[in-house]
Amino acid sequence: MHNSVNHPDVLIVGSGGAGLSLALKLAEHGVKIAVLSKFALTEGSTFYAQGGISAVFDAEDSIESHIEDTLDAGAGLCDPDIVRLTVTHGKSSINWLRSQGVVFTGEETESGEFKLHLHREGGHSHRRIVHTADATGKAVSLSLIERAREHANIDLLEHYNVVELITGPCADGASPIGKRILGAYVLDTQKQQVKTIAARAVVLATGGANKVYLYSTNPQSSTGDGIALAWRAGCRVSNMEFMQFHPTCLYHPQARAFLISEAVRGEGGKLILPNGAPFMQNYDPRGELAPRDIVARAIDAEIKKRGIDCVYLDISHKPEAFIREHFPTIYQQCLDYDIDITRQPIPVVPAAHYTCGGVLTDSYARTDIANLYAIGEVACTGLHGANRMASNSLLECLVFAERAHIDLVKKLPEIAPPPPLPPWDESQVSDSDEEVVVSHNWNELRNFMWDYVGIVRSDKRLHRAQSRVELLKKEIAEYYGNFRVTSDLLELRNLVIVAELIIRSAMRRKESRGLHYTLDYPNLDQSKPPEPTILQPVRLQGRNTYEMGE
Ligand code: FAD
Ligand code: SIN
Repeated sequence: MHNSVNHPDVLIVGSGGAGLSLALKLAEHGVKIAVLSKFALTEGSTFYAQGGISAVFDAEDSIESHIEDTLDAGAGLCDPDIVRLTVTHGKSSINWLRSQGVVFTGEETESGEFKLHLHREGGHSHRRIVHTADATGKAVSLSLIERAREHANIDLLEHYNVVELITGPCADGASPIGKRILGAYVLDTQKQQVKTIAARAVVLATGGANKVYLYSTNPQSSTGDGIALAWRAGCRVSNMEFMQFHPTCLYHPQARAFLISEAVRGEGGKLILPNGAPFMQNYDPRGELAPRDIVARAIDAEIKKRGIDCVYLDISHKPEAFIREHFPTIYQQCLDYDIDITRQPIPVVPAAHYTCGGVLTDSYARTDIANLYAIGEVACTGLHGANRMASNSLLECLVFAERAHIDLVKKLPEIAPPPPLPPWDESQVSDSDEEVVVSHNWNELRNFMWDYVGIVRSDKRLHRAQSRVELLKKEIAEYYGNFRVTSDLLELRNLVIVAELIIRSAMRRKESRGLHYTLDYPNLDQSKPPEPTILQPVRLQGRNTYEMGE
């Protein structure tokens, strides 16, 4: 086994909850790991997670109930075996995080035992959200980074952006498309150089694609890179029409993507109109605690019907001390914008939040390419189906890091080291003289995705979006072919692929189900059993890259 950054045993792309959990687990077995992060190590959705991690700890709760709630939210498209596998690992995942130094909110009981405090969120029929006040992700992220920094087997590489995966033929039947992973070309964004990293196995832990929309709760890293990389390399991608919009993102001209946790509604927060009238009971008997798709659509409908900019979330009826203890981050952040949530309602709008679809994987996080894995939000495991239940995502990151680790530890000794790989070829390109093309196309893409492929869709809107994607794809391909790569160009190139995957998947689904709502087919199609949407890329003739088929 090698001990250098250029030859790790396993290359993990992503330093969020999924990537770092896997790195720490593998490092215990003497495996040499390189973890790449596009920006600073903390810059991923994990760091910003607020509500918490779902797991059954309450004496009145049960695994069966957690399974039932997850299946219910998933609207017929969850894989029941994957749901059971994930939910049954809830307790052990939380205990593992505690063993890594994560401190959750709770208290010592008289018997000296630590009792976790549990929040409640939409779709959950019990209190089962383990949390660290309202900044759970920060607690998880900082602890895992600290542990990883201490580990001699883990190299943490910040500011590296993967350009392309490198694959070769695979003859042993381990890949349905006859390919194995060999490594990746990565852009060192500080030196602006593309380097080659060879590895026996590569793990995509790149997070979601929610920056494909104009408004999103996500950090800048969520540009769907892992999905686009895997797609171009030949992997199937599934359920991309199910993009989740969080109902309550702070609406303020200076606030950039600040989430108001669902736990605020779980603790009694009420959604109201500008005139103070509540409205959620008009949409669902569960009111504020209906699943996210229902709440987000209700808010969208009220905003459009009344021509208002936002609705309000009011928790000010709760005692001030309670609010400040449970929601210190939200309290402070809102106060910075002159909103005192102990006295005033919070202006909120829905925003793109979570990518339920992604790279199709099996129960060990394996993709269609041998030794290429996908874990965390980049993957489509079958857990979320047509709609993810709150706080099931960090749980999925932890459980599938564990699953990939089990498979890798078994397989790594048998994987042959990759052959020498060719360096990145820059002989045909020059420096760009028109960066404005990239920024203009970014804005255009996000705008039309928001307008035409957002919370409420229609055939006409999807076709409009598709024809714009076609134009952008051509322009970006030409730009990519002529100029040296930059981080912005790489992200844009990936986002346009992700946009097309979302649009094509949405076009295929001739019904409304879970997060996919279309005016042309407003009901469930009950004429046949529900099926996931699976897109299969087609190999371009004479080239080692895959594209959308007809
Ligand atoms: P991320 O944490 O997003 O990390 C992705 C990593 O990949 C980053 O390090 C990034 O730099 C790297 N990367 C991406 N592309 C490249 C590339 N091309 N090259 C190199 N590196 C790359 N879920 C819950 O379960 N509970 C919650 O309470 C909760 N709250 C949330 C609150 C907010 C504001 C947001 C945005 C999400 C929340 N979610 C929550 C969802 C959850 O946080 C994410 O789904 C989860 O953290 C994803 O983890 P991940 O490890 O897959 O990816
Ligand atoms: C939240 O705190 O509302 C986010 C929870 C999640 O997305 O799972």
